[in-house]
Amino acid sequence: MDKRPASLKRITTKKAADRFIDQQVKAIKERVGDKKVLLALSGGVDSSVCAALLIKAIGKQLVCVHVNHGLLRKGEPEQVIEVFRNNLGADLRYVDASKLFLKELKGVDDPETKRKIIGKVFIDVFAKEAKKLKGVKFLAQGTIYPDILESKGVKAHHNVGGLPKEFDFELVEPVKYLYKDEVRIVGEALGLPKKMVYRQPFPGPGLGVRCVGAITKDRLEALREADAIVREEIDKLKDKPWQYFCVIPDLKSTGIKDGKRYMGWAAIIRAINTKDAVTAKSYEIPYKTLYKIRDRIIKEVPGINRVLWDFSDKPVSTIEWE
Ligand code: XMP
Repeated sequence: MDKRPASLKRITTKKAADRFIDQQVKAIKERVGDKKVLLALSGGVDSSVCAALLIKAIGKQLVCVHVNHGLLRKGEPEQVIEVFRNNLGADLRYVDASKLFLKELKGVDDPETKRKIIGKVFIDVFAKEAKKLKGVKFLAQGTIYPDILESKGVKAHHNVGGLPKEFDFELVEPVKYLYKDEVRIVGEALGLPKKMVYRQPFPGPGLGVRCVGAITKDRLEALREADAIVREEIDKLKDKPWQYFCVIPDLKSTGIKDGKRYMGWAAIIRAINTKDAVTAKSYEIPYKTLYKIRDRIIKEVPGINRVLWDFSDKPVSTIEWE
């Protein structure tokens, strides 16, 4: 196993983070020279910190590709563009592939098949972008130390290590010996917004596994809006849970408006606390927040006429519905 060097002390302060950044910047510059580095930038903590570090070292020699698979949360692609292209001046290629993903996922209701399709289409889209570039010698990845320790970890779903053989890139993994808390401190020291650095975990297949069953565009859009409301309201709490989001099951729900019945969907609120995602406890959402979320979802999200709270623990209920 690739072991964390004993000389690397735990990073707990900005000063230590600055020292780490200086060392990495020097090492990256020496290794990369005048070649180009490619990175799939999802906007998650790890790939964002990896990108910011590389931008500091080699600026526009880093080419970031942000694939919008249409399964991202509300405001995420915009935030990636704002932070990386506008604020950090990155060479960011934005690819809106949401239509293609929806097409490939049409009618597919098996969770693992959905994950596989999302992973495969992601690689295809990324590879197509990579082919357009000249002079790329390296592929950067936001691998972190827990990914190495649990090499069968969930990351396998969305890392881009599975690129076709023709791409013969050398890997650059500047944060691979860091734990998550250290990655966040380094991210802050690099000037990334707190909102990005301290964001909750989000699965690679994104809203795809929260739009339960076969995904449809209108249910996915409703989910994105409802999820944004759940996050906005829970973000106002002092003591935030580890993961909190919304799910829309593939079920019809009857609503009534102006004396007329109509079919819509139910939105499910989920908020959990955990140390390692292996077990999890449902988080006690204050009633005031629950009612506020209910009222806002019903009022603001077309198609949703019922709001439920999933307060199950893991085991036996997994954190995600699929
Ligand atoms: P479960 O649902 O198994 O989730 O209790 C445990 C943790 O893993 C996340 N998760 C995923 N992350 N790709 C990911 O990158 C996936 O396919 C995936 N499925 C679940 C989930 O959000 C939770 O934090």
